[in-house]
Order: sequence, then structure tokens, then C-alpha cells
Amino acid sequence: MKIKPLIVLNFKTYAEGMGKNAIRIAKYCEEVSASSGVKIIACPQIPDIGMVAESVKIPVFSQHIDSAGAGSFTGHITAECVRSAGATGTLINHSERRLLLSEIDSALQSAKKAELKTIVCTNNIAVTKAAASLSPDFVAIEPPELIGSGIPVSKADPDIVRGSVEAVKRIDSGVSILCGAGISKGDDVAAALELGTSGVLLASGVIKAKDPKAALFDLAGKI
Ligand code: G3P
Repeated sequence: MKIKPLIVLNFKTYAEGMGKNAIRIAKYCEEVSASSGVKIIACPQIPDIGMVAESVKIPVFSQHIDSAGAGSFTGHITAECVRSAGATGTLINHSERRLLLSEIDSALQSAKKAELKTIVCTNNIAVTKAAASLSPDFVAIEPPELIGSGIPVSKADPDIVRGSVEAVKRIDSGVSILCGAGISKGDDVAAALELGTSGVLLASGVIKAKDPKAALFDLAGKI
């Protein structure tokens, strides 16, 4: 499915994207989104979701949800809870927070019930195929070895992106594809779109940048 290109910014657990810094970065995202017309989604740490969602009008996603629902569970992150805190979507199965396939399936069902948009992260084409067969809104292909490397997947490993785009199209054309890992420049985003994705998922290129707002303007500038 062809949708408008988007940028998903994962704040991870970086101190530069936590607490007051989370609000500051989210406001940059809002400003760049408003002036460029590019959709930008902010994924702060889960305890920061409420305050970030109250501070900006752009979509705020959770970095993770568990497969557990409401009930006698302790220390889990539920879809209902992140939704009521203000998130409108969630990452699932990030390389730094992996789940079993059965848990991804349950997490997706909980997310759908809570009306959260879903981005399932994958680390190779086989996992992309498995994720697409569960019909999330997005699959985000991210080779783990390129995460945080500054070497953009869209240039370093275009075949894994192309292969994921082809696989997803065959399995469920209603699923959109993002790619991530090492993305930091507008040119990397342009290369990702050229490969047939709907956008990028990134973190360090903005959160760790000397000037995060300038980094965001550069990213959005090539869309
Ligand atoms: O979720 C985004 C991600 O894992 C990529 O990280 O720092 O390479 O943009 P980074």
C-alpha cells in the first residue's frame, strides 16, 4: 500500500531523549513536521509518553508493548495502558527488545483491540515474511549490525530492503515497509524511498546529533 512518507524517531533510552529532553526533541519533531509537511512520529521512553503526548500534536508511539493484557500481570507494558497514556501506536519486537513470534502475534492482537498502530521490527527477510503474515500496519527492517553504526542500511544493504519490500508485497500488500539502522541524512531517506519503502525508523542520527533540529530538517528535506 502506498502511503505518505514518514519518519519514525526512536528516542531509545538515550539520556538526550529522556524527561525534559524528550519534550524538547518531540517539539523539534513537531516543528519540522509542520514546516516540511512530513509526518514524524516520536517514540519516547514509556514513562515519558504521557507528558510528551500532552506537549505535542504529532503522533507519539510506545517503544514496546508486551503480549500481556489487563489483569493479574506485574511489570508488563500493556497496549491499553500506553494508549490511555496518549500513545497512538507502538513498536513491537525491536532488535533491542525482541519477542517470540507467538508473543508478537498476541501483542498485535492487543494493539489492534486498543486501536494502536503497529510497527513490527525485523532483522532479516525471513523474519520480515513472518511479521508480514501477521498483518501489522508496518514492518520495519533493521539489520542489527548497522544499528547505531552511522552506516545507512539504505546504502550499505539495499538488497535486504528490496527483498523485504518484495516479500511484504507478496504476503500482504496492506502492510507498509520502513527501514532503519544507520540513517542520519536526507540522502539516506531518499535512498530508502527509492527502494520502495514508506519511510525510515531511526534514533542516534537525531537524538545524539549536536543539533537534533537541524538533523531533522535535513532528513525531511529530501522527502
Ligand atoms: O529504532 C531505530 C534503530 O534501531 C536504528 O538506530 O541509531 O541506527 O538510527 P540508529
